[in-house]
Amino acid sequence: MELQGYWVHVTPPGEVTQYHHHKPSLFSGVYYVDKPKDSGDLVFIDVNPYHAFSPRVLPGTTDPITRQEYNFPADDGTMLIFPGWLPHKVARNNSDRRRISISFNTI
Ligand SMILES: [Fe+2]
Repeated sequence: MELQGYWVHVTPPGEVTQYHHHKPSLFSGVYYVDKPKDSGDLVFIDVNPYHAFSPRVLPGTTDPITRQEYNFPADDGTMLIFPGWLPHKVARNNSDRRRISISFNTI
């Protein structure tokens, strides 16, 4: 595995990041340098095709069995690593401070 690139996010209050992926990265990750409370979690979407046909799955549900989005709360110093193809977004920064993180891709 080799580092393909990295970048710094400085996310001001009120900002969100829409769903995206990091193809063709093998694994991608984020390291939280400064993650104020309520400044937006990383959110992954369940890409299991079964959910597209399940009558039990309702948009916006938080039921642990049927929900389609998974939030990963993090604190300063947390690193999350995930498959580069996995769609994700970052929830709105609802704090009054900027969130600072470093993201990276690998090949
Ligand atoms: Fe990303």
